[in-house]
This record gives sequence, structure tokens and C-alpha cells, in this order.
Amino acid sequence: MAKTVKERTRWFCTECGADTPKWEGRCPSCGAWNTLVEERVLPTKKTILSAGNAGGRAGAVRSVPQRVSEIQAGDETRIQMPSKELNRVLGGGLVSGSMVLIGGEPGIGKSTLVLQNVLAIKSRKILYVSGEESATQIKMRADRLGRMSDNCFVVTETSLENIFTHIAEVEPQLLIVDSIQTIASDAIESAAGSVSQVRECAATLLRYAKENNVPVLLIGHINKEGSLAGPKVLEHIVDAVLQFEGDRQYMYRILRATKNRFGNTSELGIYEMCQRGLREVTNPSEMLMSRRDGEDLSGCAIGVTLEGIRPFLIEAQALVSTAAYGTPQRSVTGFDSKRMNMLLAVLEKRVGFKLAQKDVFLNIAGGLKVSDPALDLAVIAAILSSNVDMPVPHDVCLSGEVGLSGEIRPVTRMEQRVREADKLGMKTIIIPRGAMKGVDTSKLSIEVVEVDKVEEAFRHLFG
Ligand code: TYD
Ligand code: MG
Repeated sequence: MAKTVKERTRWFCTECGADTPKWEGRCPSCGAWNTLVEERVLPTKKTILSAGNAGGRAGAVRSVPQRVSEIQAGDETRIQMPSKELNRVLGGGLVSGSMVLIGGEPGIGKSTLVLQNVLAIKSRKILYVSGEESATQIKMRADRLGRMSDNCFVVTETSLENIFTHIAEVEPQLLIVDSIQTIASDAIESAAGSVSQVRECAATLLRYAKENNVPVLLIGHINKEGSLAGPKVLEHIVDAVLQFEGDRQYMYRILRATKNRFGNTSELGIYEMCQRGLREVTNPSEMLMSRRDGEDLSGCAIGVTLEGIRPFLIEAQALVSTAAYGTPQRSVTGFDSKRMNMLLAVLEKRVGFKLAQKDVFLNIAGGLKVSDPALDLAVIAAILSSNVDMPVPHDVCLSGEVGLSGEIRPVTRMEQRVREADKLGMKTIIIPRGAMKGVDTSKLSIEVVEVDKVEEAFRHLFG
């Protein structure tokens, strides 16, 4: 008895999806530690292959090698999604036959984002498979979103085989699976959401997408650590991974591509969760600056950052106060804490500010995480402003990287940044010297101040 149980149990690596017959501390395939989980499987894999026969049995369709130059490009390779932000993150639309995974925390708005978009597509037949909500719940959501479509079919289903029956009936031109962790194939004994189920279901759906040239949108859950639940192979097999993220305190949601075979991964889409669904934020600078109505507060400085090809203004807020306890505190949100410590060291050593005995708190407004080095100058300005308790005028912004010796270094696409600041009514921008060489600034109404060193920027701001 014990023997048969043992035969049907295998250990799967949650990192790479490799399986071994017995437990090991370290995955023999990818070398990760403590990633093996036990799962029950059928001893033979033949049944699994035939499970996907609705999408074409593996091996039934023979591919023929072709010359790249002879491959016919489809007339309609990209499907435009109704949401411009989504299109941009996808790299200019959804590629037919591609599989895209949208991941995010529960309740962040993944289902809303997808439903809102598919309800606005009138020209294609869409099948929305939900393993989480009933058809009436989806209808309620659609009512709330204020959208209806005759071409969108909704079904509550968790069995992979049944999904293919529905596909055969509806013949959709776009398939949505919400979520991949709730779908299970009868051919595998383990529970839905387990490594082997997620892997097999995703692989079968991928085969369906490629063979029928139908795009598939998968919705995926993320685990405690913030990465997609299930095997890492899931991320490898899909064409694009979009992360939907946001801070609970804010209604803003950010959609970013962490992988995209058909586009740029540095693109960003910004939404706001409203009463009637997600609203596109076309001018992100508005959300990233707290409205101060002309009042100047110390500790705030506006930086010009760039995500993808889009520049926007973002506010850095700092609080510097004398440490109440022996060890000063350093607390950072939305910015790299190591980088802030480096900037503090530069201020201490090069500009002579005594910050070693001070608590420093830094916050980037809007709940956004920024990795653009151009924000250094704004961070430094915010810290200095709080330290001397003098405000940075609200119509002054900054953009530049700070080097270890306190020099201000140029950053990419300076011209675009200056233009954005000008467009949003800023009066002055402080940038690295020489960064605007050869650029015609005569049409700009913004005053461009070029600086070489942190001291210079400080003198300009606080006299
Ligand atoms: P949902 O799309 O169900 O999240 P997910 O699929 O990622 O789990 O979003 C649920 C949240 O969105 C819920 O807290 C309510 C909120 N919401 C709105 O604020 N407005 C709306 O119009 C909708 C549909 C949802
Ligand atoms: Mg959902």
C-alpha cells in the first residue's frame, strides 16, 4: 500500500518546476534550496498530452522549418486594446497568438482591468473563463463598470478539459483565464494551484494560443514574497508578464511589464481605481505631487523622473530631525535605502552637513518605487530643505545624478525632462552642467539652471 502511494508522489521545485522522486534539500536542476514541494501525480504522462487535444494534440501538427524572409506576417498582428495605457505596456497592442500573464495582489484590480477592457472590444468574440467568480458576480461587476457587450461570453469553470469544450463552442478570438491558479486538469491528481497543475494548464493553453493564433490573457496570483505564485517556468513560457501593483493607501495602480517578448519592459501604465472601474491617468505628474496650493513646505522637492519614455514630475519628501535615541533611524519608502545612505554620506563629507546624529525619513509621493538616478538631486534637496528648515519653492524642480564626490552628473533624455517640467508650469529646473548642450531652449519659458556640484545647487536653492 505504502509503495503505491510512494510511486504516485513526486517532488516539484517551485523555482524551476523540475521534479524528483524523493525529497532533497536542494533542487538538483536549478540548485535552489528548500524549494521542493510534494505533489501527487499520475505515473504516466500520456494522458496529460491527450488532455490538450482540443487545442491540437502534440505531434499531430508538424511544423516545417521556413526561411525567416519567407514567413508571412499576419495582416493584423497586434490587437489594439481599448485602454491606451495597457497598449503601451504591451508594446503597442496584444500580439495575436501570444500569452500574457497579469499578476498582482488580491483585490488590486486585475479582474476589473481585464473585464473593463474586454467589454469595450466589440469587434471580437471573447471568452472570459472565471474560476473565482460566478457569472452573476461578473455581471454585477460589468454593471458597475457601466459596460455591456454582446460579444463577450462568460463562464465559470475550473476544469481545463471543460474549458476546451467551451472554446470549441464559442470559438473565441480572445481567451481570458481568471485565474490560472484555480484551473486544474483531470489528468493530474494534485490540487489546483499546485506546481504541476499550473505548469500543465499553462502549457496546454500556450499550445492552444500558438496553434490557433488566439491571444490568451492569464490572470495570476502572487505569493507573500511578491512574485508570481506557482512555478517559475510559468514566467518563462508566457510571452509577457505584466505586474499590477499599487499601494493600499492610494487609489493609484501601476501596470508594468516585467517581461515582454514584443516590447519594452520599461513602460509603465498608471490607473486610478474609481467608483466605476479604473480610470487612466494620462498626466501622472498630477498624482505624484501633493497639491500644496502655492504654499511652500520645507522637506519637499520635486524631481523629474523618467519611466520608459515618459517623463514625469514626482515629489520627494524628507524629514530630518535630531535622533531621540543613540542610533539614528533611516527610513525610506519608494527609494533605494542604500542609495539614500550614499547620498547622506556625500552630504556629510562634501558639503559638511552633520547628518550622522540625525534621524532621516524619506518618502516618494504616490507610492511609486523609483530607480531613476536622476531623482538623486531632488532627494538631496528635500533632505537639505528639511535640515535647514527652509522650503524649496514649489515651482522649482531638479533632475540629476549625484556622484560620490558630490558632482552632479548628466542623465538620459534631459531635453524631454526639461520640456515636461516646462509644460507643467515649473519656473526653474536645476540640471547638471552641459546636459542641454546643443538644445534650443529659446522657446521654453522655464529657467534652466546648470550646476556642477551639490554645493552649487544648495546655494541656488537656499541662498
Ligand atoms: P478586483 O478586480 O476584483 O481585484 P483582483 O481581481 O485583482 O482580485 O478588484 C477588486 C477591488 O476593486 C475591490 O476592492 C473593489 C474595487 N473596485 C472599485 O473600487 N471600483 C470598481 O468599479 C470595481 C469593479 C472594483
Ligand atoms: Mg479577481
